[in-house]
Amino acid sequence: MSNHHDSTHIDWDELGPLLERGAEVQSPLYRQATDWLRELVPAGGVRRILDIGSGPGVITGLLAEAFPYAEVVAVDGTEPLLERAAARAARAGQGDRIRTRTAELPDDMADLGEADLIWAGGFVHHLGDQRAALGTLGRLLRPGGLLAVVEGGLPARHLPRDFGIGRPGLESRVGAAVEDWFARMRAELPGAKDEVEDWRALLAASGLTPSGTRSFLLDVPAPVPLSVREQLVSAFAWQRRLVEGLLPADDIAVLDRLLDPEDAEGLLQRSDAYLLTARTLYTARRD
Ligand SMILES: C[S@@+](CC[C@H](N)C(=O)[O-])C[C@H]1O[C@@H](n2cnc3c(N)ncnc32)[C@H](O)[C@@H]1O
Repeated sequence: MSNHHDSTHIDWDELGPLLERGAEVQSPLYRQATDWLRELVPAGGVRRILDIGSGPGVITGLLAEAFPYAEVVAVDGTEPLLERAAARAARAGQGDRIRTRTAELPDDMADLGEADLIWAGGFVHHLGDQRAALGTLGRLLRPGGLLAVVEGGLPARHLPRDFGIGRPGLESRVGAAVEDWFARMRAELPGAKDEVEDWRALLAASGLTPSGTRSFLLDVPAPVPLSVREQLVSAFAWQRRLVEGLLPADDIAVLDRLLDPEDAEGLLQRSDAYLLTARTLYTARRD
């Protein structure tokens, strides 16, 4: 096994379709999450929401639906993803309430203005100093406001342990290799700091009062619809790139068969592919 990529830099623009369709497929899970948020912060009092690291804005739209009196600002460093967010908002008739804001974080964080609700989904782990970032976000909250952070949860699963080709347990091995990639990605971030990923404790350390942690399940059993199948292909293709050089050649060969649209054992054709995952939402309030 050679020792992998030169760099763990992520081309976010290129990931646009994967991020957008991925969040669309997970919308039922995020709807449950935003319903729960409405129990924690009455919608009538939420006038401004920041969606930090919004990407293509699928969840921004769900936040706008859940909090009908709020202006929702999609904040991201990748302009083309914000263009996707703006186009989605216009298509959904939410263009008057959803704004986009290009910001390179953490540098521009303090300039984002106050908010009653801040959502940061799959974002904080892309910053070198996660503790400092949570502290800055917490200070943007108005009194009584809520910070909601999506991190951790469970890695998605899509195939039986033994799906008939290659050695059983491929997804576990891919998952372990992705963890190695993730550790390198974090180590190479500017200002990278090691941190115990105890998100509730980190929120408390940032001066906020933890107000609950919940995990939301997404369960799309086999056989999955074509839209989900295509999303699985994109997700496996992305993972295959990450684990190149980290997995033995026989596993890579199986991944290639799964990705081959002509292969009867490929993800587009097989009847046993499913989508099962969970996302964890950590919340904390500014007193
Ligand atoms: C994993 S995506 C999450 C997208 C969306 N929140 C979701 O859950 O589907 C991370 C997002 O953070 C943005 N991002 C990463 N690092 C950033 C930085 N330093 N400043 C601003 N945005 C950043 C990327 O452009 C990307 O859209």
